[in-house]
Amino acid sequence: MISGSTIVLMVGGSIAAYKSAELIRLLKKKDARVRVVLTEAGAKFITPMTLQTLAGERVRAETFSLQEEAAVGHIELADSADAVLVAPATADLIAKAANGIADDLCTTVLLASTAPLVFAPAMNVNMWNNAATQENVSKLRARGALVLEPGDGFLACGWTGSGRLPEYDAILQALGTATSPQDYAGTRVLVTAGATREHLDPIRFVSNRSSGKMGYAIAQSAASRGADVTLISGPSALTPPAGVKTINVTTALEMHRAVMEQVGAPADLKKHQKQYVFMVAAVSDHRPAEISSSKLKHSKDEEYSIRMVPSPDILRELGSTRESIEAQSGMPLRLIGFAAETGEQDELIAWAQEKLTKKNSDLIVGNFAHDSFEKNTNRVWLLDRTGRQEEISTADKLLVAAKIVARARKL
Ligand code: CTP
Repeated sequence: MISGSTIVLMVGGSIAAYKSAELIRLLKKKDARVRVVLTEAGAKFITPMTLQTLAGERVRAETFSLQEEAAVGHIELADSADAVLVAPATADLIAKAANGIADDLCTTVLLASTAPLVFAPAMNVNMWNNAATQENVSKLRARGALVLEPGDGFLACGWTGSGRLPEYDAILQALGTATSPQDYAGTRVLVTAGATREHLDPIRFVSNRSSGKMGYAIAQSAASRGADVTLISGPSALTPPAGVKTINVTTALEMHRAVMEQVGAPADLKKHQKQYVFMVAAVSDHRPAEISSSKLKHSKDEEYSIRMVPSPDILRELGSTRESIEAQSGMPLRLIGFAAETGEQDELIAWAQEKLTKKNSDLIVGNFAHDSFEKNTNRVWLLDRTGRQEEISTADKLLVAAKIVARARKL
């Protein structure tokens, strides 16, 4: 996970070096420490001052700065990295890294680091396609480095083709993977998120305050740990995390149908050995008995009632048909439910406990509505079937999601 990690960023000599400024800003926003190494060629395109101001710490450039070498600077830098990102990665840097050449600070740190390496290439299309570069890329990939494909489009050199720095999202996703344990490799994960909407007529609906943030954070966290993730989302303003298949639904009935279709799909046994469902969505328990196809007209002076009928309880149905789903999909199923409550802590725990049993789930994540709805942070309690309780204190939803996802993998 990027948050809380130390990223050593190598800025190579390409016109795309200006984009490293935005990358630093995005990484800092995610709460990472960014230690920048600027190559001599990189410094021709962007100033150390720009990078230093954004990173909030000194930018390193020369290998043999006396001050740095007193503490064997390049080794200290290499050892501190949770991941090393080369962005932009030039053909020259890729070639040197592939062949173990260490003739400046950047390439020395690359050789000395045992952390995961991510390369975000940017260069002329012919340089990228050159057999020498492609051989070097293959060498790096064979050693486990994550070399991203450059983006397509108009290049600053005048050519059009493959050679643009990959999109920020793709770089962040690669770093997310590089900094997370791959404990979900070989699993299929289904996440529901957000609120459902139950229409009364073409204009009005009944819904709730869920924003989808917690569910999207769970999906992102599972994907960065190697899971094959499908997100089933109610209407939400959020952008789905990169690398996650997203199915958009509106009503509880649509969510129910989508979940049942996905969860029962036969496993690709080469890819999946276990399935997890995180029911994070705040599903409407009821829907209007009638949906009017034209706008409802009511007299402003009179009261009126809406008759509501129950919608399927998706988690309860998953819990009660667990064995047949396991037989259908060909893999074990683990169910994680959520409970958003008001009231006191002992009531929250009691309701969460009741949901665990009633819905035959493996884990319930209880939280208070006032801690969660529309917020970027959350505080939760985890309850499992052995009676174990665990509190995750207030933190960014991505951090809380990472802890929930890590706990669920032990089920
Ligand atoms: N859930 C579901 N289908 C529904 C309603 C809820 O799958 N129709 C899931 C939610 O995604 C969540 C858990 O069940 O994982 C919440 O349990 P629920 O009992 O529905 O919570 P509340 O709606 O808050 O229930 P209550 O009003 O009984 O507190």
